[in-house]
Amino acid sequence: MSKWLNSAVFYEIYPQSFYDTNGDGIGDIEGIIRKLDYILSIGCNAIWLNPCFDSPFRDAGYDVRDYKKVAPRYGTNDDLKRLFAEAHKRGMRVLLDLVPGHTSEDHEWFHKSKEPKPNEHWNRYIWTDDWATWASGLKVIGGEADRNASYIVNFFKCQPALNYGFFRPDQSWQLPMDHPDCIATREAMKDVMRYWLDAGCDGFRVDMAASLVKFDDEQSSGTSAIWRNVRAMLDADYPEAVLISEWSDPATAIKAGFHADFLLHFNGSAYNSLVRDYKMDGGYNVTSDPDNSFFKKDGNGDICRFIDDYLRHYEATKNEGHISLITGNHDVPRLRLTLSPLEMSVAFAFLFTMPGVPFLYYGDEIGMRYLNLVSKEGGYNRTGARTPMQWGKGKNLGFSTAEADKLYLPVDPANDAPTVEDSEKDESSLLNTLRALLKLRHAEPDLQARANLEIVFAEKSRLPFVYRRGSMLLAVNPGVKAASAQVKGAPVPGGSAPLYAIGDCAFEPGSVRMEGQSFGIWRLGSG
Ligand code: NOJ
Repeated sequence: MSKWLNSAVFYEIYPQSFYDTNGDGIGDIEGIIRKLDYILSIGCNAIWLNPCFDSPFRDAGYDVRDYKKVAPRYGTNDDLKRLFAEAHKRGMRVLLDLVPGHTSEDHEWFHKSKEPKPNEHWNRYIWTDDWATWASGLKVIGGEADRNASYIVNFFKCQPALNYGFFRPDQSWQLPMDHPDCIATREAMKDVMRYWLDAGCDGFRVDMAASLVKFDDEQSSGTSAIWRNVRAMLDADYPEAVLISEWSDPATAIKAGFHADFLLHFNGSAYNSLVRDYKMDGGYNVTSDPDNSFFKKDGNGDICRFIDDYLRHYEATKNEGHISLITGNHDVPRLRLTLSPLEMSVAFAFLFTMPGVPFLYYGDEIGMRYLNLVSKEGGYNRTGARTPMQWGKGKNLGFSTAEADKLYLPVDPANDAPTVEDSEKDESSLLNTLRALLKLRHAEPDLQARANLEIVFAEKSRLPFVYRRGSMLLAVNPGVKAASAQVKGAPVPGGSAPLYAIGDCAFEPGSVRMEGQSFGIWRLGSG
């Protein structure tokens, strides 16, 4: 089932900022279609598209007004179907972004739910029974409806929480999960999924997947039961379709039926220790010094912080689903904020050769910068990671023909703003370095998603980090100083030259020697 995930490498597209083909200053679906060959040329054979549905855009589209309609600013439903078809022609897959935890306050379900008289949608959202502006840790908004009630929000004020029930209701307004109205919410979301799966999409990245049932238990049993029900529908009717959760707890999410889960910057995950071990102030400037991220060349990186956490999830999930590592996403500052292109390429080499299904955030492949911008569409400090893709040296760096002041967000104004055009010409660019790596990943099944990880050398505050994937030995030294480690085994006869390398490194029988900022992959021989 969903075997294609094993060789999938995803490219995340923030549609607002990818490629504008009609000159209105904002990206569109036609723009994605025109760039499919570019995406494939990187080695990405799958796409995750951020929400592209009708919305008032108070949270960049994560406030859906109509789940079954493409936002006019991106195109039409037919355009999206064409994107699926064009992707499939090239052997690529497309995941949409499903937002099951909340809608926009402008969704027609919510308008109905606000009415004074009971109706089919009255319980579609969570309403208290009075004007309380708090309810045991839930965010409550009062005064917005002609009901003797206030509603619970899931994220921003504009995102009322859909009602999947309470795990242990203890107030009269809290419905149990098996209440018919809560089941109806689940079925409505399944109906949305069917709609897009029938139209040709290949599955969903699921927003705030853990957020459905309120006052869930420690194991998220209530929310997990809902996802297992959804997964049963997929297995029966759409066996190729996949679900990838924004949960950041793979051990829990995969048991709940997800094919993969992102290991992100929250839920106690150690992902940030790799690349974002810093804090930001209210002006969105990095404040912590030193930054001990593992991939900073002078960060005194300690891989154990990450690997101990990773292995806990890996051991719990390795036969059932995948962990997804990302270069970045629309919610976090870009890697380039603190890492140089060389530090990034060493980080990429690791991220794209660990087990699991990896995700590249658009623009990271050319080292796009994080810009310090004022919030747009609820972006806050995320806005600076959502700027237009930089295609070439022309007007608006090739993103759009609109006047600069009409762009969704400004393009990087720097003279040396990286572009696809320049990166393609430079053999040693981040883009071309990544292309070579992904080419190898696609050619070598041992480097793909399936679980076959063995840690060879990982010591607190000692480099390099050495790991094995089936018949491959991989070693990474992100620090500036040379480092070596004893390892069992030797390369295949005549195979001491790495299959892939960044910087200078060598594998000889019994040891790897890594110059500063290097990475290597070798095929292991017997013995
Ligand atoms: C997570 C999404 O990635 C983020 O962008 C959004 O603001 C929240 N969920 C709310 O839907």
